[in-house]
Amino acid sequence: MADFIVEAAGLCKAYHSDAVSTPVLRDVALAVPGGECLFLVGPSGSGKTTLLSILGCVLSPDSGHIEILGENVAGFSPADQARFRREKVGFVFQRFHLFDALSAVENVQVAFDLLKWPRVRSRAKSLELLALVGLADKAASRVTRLSMGQRQRVALARALAGDPALILADEPTASLDAESGLNAMRVLKELCQSLEKTVIVVTHDSRIFDLADRILTLADGRIAGTGPAAGSSANAPSPPALNTRLIA
Ligand SMILES: Nc1ncnc2c1ncn2[C@@H]1O[C@H](COP(=O)(O)OP(=O)(O)OP(=O)(O)O)[C@@H](O)[C@H]1O
Ligand SMILES: [Mg+2]
Repeated sequence: MADFIVEAAGLCKAYHSDAVSTPVLRDVALAVPGGECLFLVGPSGSGKTTLLSILGCVLSPDSGHIEILGENVAGFSPADQARFRREKVGFVFQRFHLFDALSAVENVQVAFDLLKWPRVRSRAKSLELLALVGLADKAASRVTRLSMGQRQRVALARALAGDPALILADEPTASLDAESGLNAMRVLKELCQSLEKTVIVVTHDSRIFDLADRILTLADGRIAGTGPAAGSSANAPSPPALNTRLIA
């Protein structure tokens, strides 16, 4: 594993409309070691999603240097970006982005379809991933029959398809109540720890801050502060048992 999964310096990004340019990221520097669970926090509009989108090769910076997993992604073509997203990054979103007409296992299989896995193999692997997030018994259920917390765990299983080194989550607990949000985030953190993934989470949710290895604050497009997690998660409720042997 590289010493740093993400190394960025001097990142700038502006959005343009009607000849007006609005700077959103200003000279952002970031170094994220392998295996870290990093939280990005800060006021609405401070540039968190924009930065996460650059880290996920969804957007390109206007200027600055950025290497992810040893690749100079700032110079990527759209095709390179798509390949990188498909193979190296798992995404988790606030509203899950699942297909309502599909079952839990079919939703995970969609990610393997993009990787062109044969169906029999992708089904077996999808079932393993659902077991890892504690949903073995819900694999055949349509996702509309699952609770919000269960849906987010399906999305987490989908993010792990293809064994990406980097997991990016944008407000993963914002649609969940306190207990299921903490539960989903603990599943994400523990799985990524045992599977040696690097995780970057954008969040406003102070209830989950204890799960961060490090918290960076963005303000007005700049890194405004850094610090360790606020406290200990020792008193938080336990998540369901994880069976990480299945993914070996
Ligand atoms: N596609 C876009 N076109 C123009 N402006 C944009 C676009 N996306 C975001 N912005 C603007 O860029 C700024 C940063 O947006 P961004 O979504 O990165 O903030 P954020 O920190 O994620 O906010 P929130 O916490 O509300 O999700 C905001 O002022 C926003 O209005
Ligand atoms: Mg945002």
